[in-house]
Parts: sequence; structure tokens; C-alpha cells
Amino acid sequence: MKMIEEILKLKKEKNAVILAHCYQNIEIDEVADFIGDSLYLSQQAAKTEADIIVFAGVYFMAETAKILSPDKKILLPRLESGCQMANMINLAQLREFKFKNPNIPTVCYVNSTAEVKSECDICCTSSNAVKIVSSLGVKEVLFVPDTYLGKWVESKLEGVKVITFPGHCPTHLRITVKDILQQKSQYQNALVLAHPECHQSVVEIADYVGSTTGIMKFAAQSDKKEFIIATEIGVVERLERDYPDKKFILASPKAICHNMKWHHLEDIYNALKYEQYEIEVNEQISKKAVNCINRMLEVSK
Ligand code: 13P
Ligand code: SF4
Repeated sequence: MKMIEEILKLKKEKNAVILAHCYQNIEIDEVADFIGDSLYLSQQAAKTEADIIVFAGVYFMAETAKILSPDKKILLPRLESGCQMANMINLAQLREFKFKNPNIPTVCYVNSTAEVKSECDICCTSSNAVKIVSSLGVKEVLFVPDTYLGKWVESKLEGVKVITFPGHCPTHLRITVKDILQQKSQYQNALVLAHPECHQSVVEIADYVGSTTGIMKFAAQSDKKEFIIATEIGVVERLERDYPDKKFILASPKAICHNMKWHHLEDIYNALKYEQYEIEVNEQISKKAVNCINRMLEVSK
């Protein structure tokens, strides 16, 4: 296909890499250098030697890449790609939350703005949240912005109170227990694999809870044949492509993150050709936020 060839050519000419989250439109995988969850992609952004990173993901991911690699050009092909959860807390709200709960370390989910990261102690993603909170060795933590991920972490750690900000992911909250039970009545032997951004009632009935990559690895390694997938549709599409001998059932047809679906091959092509849209982060904020992200990468090694 011509478009794919053109993208690969531009990528080489400009010494660029394309990072793609597993919720992206699956056609992007044809040109991506790295495909994975938020943690994996931030690790790749931190260590790449490319001059340009095209981020096929949402805004906070491109912003995180810019904070980690301030000298590189970070491109987000469609600026509309925001994350509703990340926009649920701003700096004023974070300060108020901390003021009401003084002297407690603050963990922020990577799905947050650079400003919010700049005033938190350590970052986490869904794949390392338990490890990060436990690494602090404290009895109480503040957790922003995802209340469900925070509460799931609390359920995994004995003796740690996780005080959560009331943010959430609208995509994952559209998956209900009723959806799961309905699918279970049809596929009785299927295992339920859920993302920790889901409501706790869904997480409680899941056989496995983990990040997008965690879910994909679990399904790949399991000797079971049927899986009900309680996360975004992109994960099901990739599992169906990679493991055609297994059956993957999307828990709810509503599990689509429209913010993740803006990028198409044409947008990636335009991003590389016109070097758009460049993501910038205020230098002062970046210098503070980088500590929060680097601390996470250090613990996740
Ligand atoms: P992970 O990539 O950590 O699974 O998180 C999912 C998500 O919602 C990304 O925005
Ligand atoms: Fe944000 Fe939820 Fe979409 Fe992830 S799935 S980008 S948390 S809105």
C-alpha cells in the first residue's frame, strides 16, 4: 500500500520512530516501531535515539515523551486526542486535594497533565501501580486522578490506605457487571480479563486484572481458549489478529475510547511530512515533572 511505503520512507529520511498505544486504530501497527501499553511506550520514549517521535496515542503520552526527551521533536498527529480522565484534575484541584490531606505522598497516574505531574511525588501506570505505591513504604498515599485504579491498588496491598481523587475513565466505566454476566452466560468457560480502570464491581469478578499489555500477555500464555476482555476494543482486535485459534469477546460494544481513534495512516503521514503537531511543555514544569516520571522508571526497571 502506497501510504505505508511513504510513511516508512519518511521515517527513515527523518530518523523518526512511531510509538503506538494498543488502543490505536489497528492499521497504525503496520508502520509503528513500538506498540504497547503506557509504561512500555514511556520506556521507549526515554531511550530512543531518534530525532523525531511520532506518538500515536493521546496528548498526555506525547507530553510525557517530551518531558523525558526535551531535545527531541515530539509529534502528535491529531491534537484532538485528549484523555478525558487526565482532564479531570487540574493544578488547583490537586493543590486543594493535597491541602485537605496534608503530609501524605502523592502518586499520580501517568494519565494526567504535565502540571499535575510537576506537583506529585511519583508517577505510575496501570502495569506498575501496585509496585510504585508499595515502593514508598508508607501507610497512606494520595492517588490522582483515577479513583478505580487507586482503590484496586489498595485492595492489593495490606495496611496501605489509598486516598483517591474522584477521577475516572469514561471508556472503562461503560463496561458493567451486567455486560460481563451476559457474556458469561453465552461463553461459560471464558476467563474474564479486566483493566484496573474498570469499576471495582467488574474488577471483583475478573479472573485476571492488569494493564493492556498484561491482559494480552495473560491471554497469549493461558492454555484456555475463550476470554471476555474488559478493556478497550483495540486490545481485542490485536488479540484476534495474533491468536486466531482463540476466541476473544469484547465485554461491551461501548468499550471504545474515541480519543484514541483520531489517528489514521494519513494523519501519521502528514505528521511526518509537515512535522506536525509539535508538543511543547513549559520548561519549569517539565523540570519538575521529569522527577516524578524518572522516579517511576527507576522503580520499574
Ligand atoms: P495502560 O496503557 O497502562 O494499559 O492504560 C490504559 C489507558 O487507559 C491508556 O490511556
Ligand atoms: Fe483516557 Fe480512558 Fe481513553 Fe485511556 S481509555 S485514553 S484513560 S479516556
